[in-house]
Amino acid sequence: MKPVASGNVARTKLNGIAIVVVASLFFFGCAGDERTAKGKKHYNHYCSHCHGESGQQGDGFNWERMPDPRPKNLASNAEMSTFSDKEIFDTIYRDMRDWEDPKVLDDENYFAVPTMPTFKYTLSEQEIWGIVAHVRTLHGMSFTYDLDARQKELEEALQAARPDMEATQTAYDAATEKVEAAQEAYEETLTDEQLDDYEPEEISLPEEAVFLIANEKFENAKTALENFSKRPKRTRIKSPDLTISEGERAKQAALGKKLYTDTYGCNGCHSINDVGGLVGPVLDRAGFRLNDTWVYRWIRNPQAMKKHTRMPNLGTSDADAKALTYYLGTLRAPIPENPIPEAG
Ligand code: HEC
Ligand code: HEC
Repeated sequence: MKPVASGNVARTKLNGIAIVVVASLFFFGCAGDERTAKGKKHYNHYCSHCHGESGQQGDGFNWERMPDPRPKNLASNAEMSTFSDKEIFDTIYRDMRDWEDPKVLDDENYFAVPTMPTFKYTLSEQEIWGIVAHVRTLHGMSFTYDLDARQKELEEALQAARPDMEATQTAYDAATEKVEAAQEAYEETLTDEQLDDYEPEEISLPEEAVFLIANEKFENAKTALENFSKRPKRTRIKSPDLTISEGERAKQAALGKKLYTDTYGCNGCHSINDVGGLVGPVLDRAGFRLNDTWVYRWIRNPQAMKKHTRMPNLGTSDADAKALTYYLGTLRAPIPENPIPEAG
């Protein structure tokens, strides 16, 4: 036996391990690089007008035009290092504030600046994590959040919700069958004449309520997992019924005006009478120029009408989108102070 030979074998083995280690570092490094590169692309498209490509205050063309508070300096390590990756994510992903919801009103930590729009309804969760990874590079930090664990958590939540949904559905089906059988048995005791007048009673089964709760939990877990890797569905919005009495329309328009600034921060991107952002078109004469059915459908889901528009889907409810539509409908050319006298 020559000891040299075994040494060679050992070395070859070590080399093999080294190659695997280097290759996997390369692989994971690439996945991270690719994520950050995509994040940069999305940041430049959806964020840079307000935050600037560099993240510095005043760099984005819209920065000066935004109402206070304006964004912090995303390029400042001192300011941004106080945020965790998850906190940056939550800033971009949160729901717009629902001012009617007492739970939200009581929550002092709720991110309450409406002119920072949500991207929850526009991008996938993974895409937003990519944006976070890019934001980290703007102030010289690296992204450390464990995305695999996050995906696993969502998968496990779905797995946990399924048996509950199935069990409550079985119980609900069995209860329905029992009620139907009892009803049929009762109907058989009736004469033809009695049967003509007979209307079966609507029974609300407690099993139904239990099932609906479990089913909602299941559906939410399913959507959350889908939205992790895919953008929310761009479902076509049906044409709304916008007929309303004059008095009610004025009330709804006043509510819409409040929602416009206080909840959805539309003024961060649009200007009216030269006040507000410049990202989207000026809305001074929106009521004159635009069709209200179109406006409603646009507000509900801009991506369904124009895939890559910079206007995010803000998650407006049917009622809020209607109020906003009635408000925009009031924006017409200003009434001249000295109207031109009518001819004749
Ligand atoms: C319409 C303008 C606008 C757009 C578009 C916008 N933001 Fe903001 N953003 C703001 C404003 C205004 C604030 C300040 C909120 C505050 O002070 O609480 C802010 C705050 C933030 C913060 C927290 C730091 C801070 O300034 O308090 C982060 C992080 C952030 N935005 C990231 C993003 C990312 C990423 C995007 C794109 C996906 C984006 N924003 C799109 C206006 C915008
Ligand atoms: C992050 C910026 C941003 C926010 C926030 C935003 N918009 Fe927009 N909006 C745009 C952009 C950009 C367009 C132009 C769309 C395009 O052609 O891609 C647009 C287009 C529109 C249009 C069509 C205007 C026209 O003349 O064609 C309406 C109406 C509108 N937005 C209403 C709203 C309302 C109401 C809100 C608040 C609920 C809102 N927007 C919030 C950026 C924004």
